[in-house]
Amino acid sequence: FDLSRLNTMGLASHARFGAVISTPEEIDELTGLSQGTGLPLRILGGGSNLVLRDEIAAVVGVMGTKGRTVEQRADGTALVTAQAGEDWSEFVGWTIAQGIPGLENLGGIPGTVGAAPVQNIGAYGVELAERLDSLVVWDLVDRQRRRFSAQDCEFSYRQSLFKRSGNRFVVLEATFALPDTWTANLSYPGLDSLPADADAATIHERVLAVRGAKLPNWRMLGNAGSFFHNPIVRSEVAEGIANVPRYPQRDGTVKLSAAWLIEACGLKGVREGQAGVYDRHALILVNHGGATYAEIAGLASRIVNTVREQFGVALVQEPIEL
Ligand code: EPU
Repeated sequence: FDLSRLNTMGLASHARFGAVISTPEEIDELTGLSQGTGLPLRILGGGSNLVLRDEIAAVVGVMGTKGRTVEQRADGTALVTAQAGEDWSEFVGWTIAQGIPGLENLGGIPGTVGAAPVQNIGAYGVELAERLDSLVVWDLVDRQRRRFSAQDCEFSYRQSLFKRSGNRFVVLEATFALPDTWTANLSYPGLDSLPADADAATIHERVLAVRGAKLPNWRMLGNAGSFFHNPIVRSEVAEGIANVPRYPQRDGTVKLSAAWLIEACGLKGVREGQAGVYDRHALILVNHGGATYAEIAGLASRIVNTVREQFGVALVQEPIEL
């Protein structure tokens, strides 16, 4: 099963078995195949947060279920539900076009609705966790559907119950609670120049423009977005690094800019074979064309080692390896 066109990093990759899933019942069929072959089952979304090995000994299911609905509550909140295989960015655009505000800061993020809660996607001052009402998963162990409230999902920065529990839960659909009395979040640089009364459509447009200016389009230059988490460290560690952008957390720890650390190590724009650090944003590894898994992984370890030696900070890779 060829995955080469199903990952935004553009790595050439084959899985032993694979299928596109168009109904949730098909997941159970793939579970049967997984048990029959003794290979693990791995469910993928849009492939935008992956680093794929050349040969993958697994049964791969690519979530392709579609559908979106809106339920208007009496209190003015729209409950918007999308199936896991919907493209996240199109889904956000659709809510905005329906006149439903709330997801505008999260516009333009590559990937699917089903993958979005797994790493609690966040951008421009908003995290998915703040907008999610609940979601439905398929439990691969109990072979049944389960509904989780946003609270149950144990979200934190780029983390969730689903990411921590490995491959047990497959997100089938997600429901967002989007009140009509909504407050714009214009805190992030690039959005802060908008008028305070900017509507959701204007903010959405600006978010797309800011992303377009900063981040490479994977269709032109293969990439998986941010390649590392912004590290969260004790405040003493943060204070020991002069000039690093710091984002204090509620619990007294400090989130640091990983891009800054990488750039300060002189690694912005470096290249190893066809793998490189994007020359306009140091947190993004890019495929200059035909890069291999080994080249990307090699460059990633060089970055981790250099940042550790220079600053004593451990960078954690964000894209999942398969
Ligand atoms: N910076 C540098 N050098 C660079 C780029 C940035 O020093 O080459 C510094 C700048 O000081 C800048 C700061 O890093 O102010 C933060 O950069 P940016 O605003 O681009 O955000 P980020 O922390 O690098 C995070 C998310 C992005 C998200 C943006 C906007 C993570 C790992 N990444 O990036 O998410 O779009 O904030 O909210 O938290 C993704 O996950 O794929 C992704 C793109």
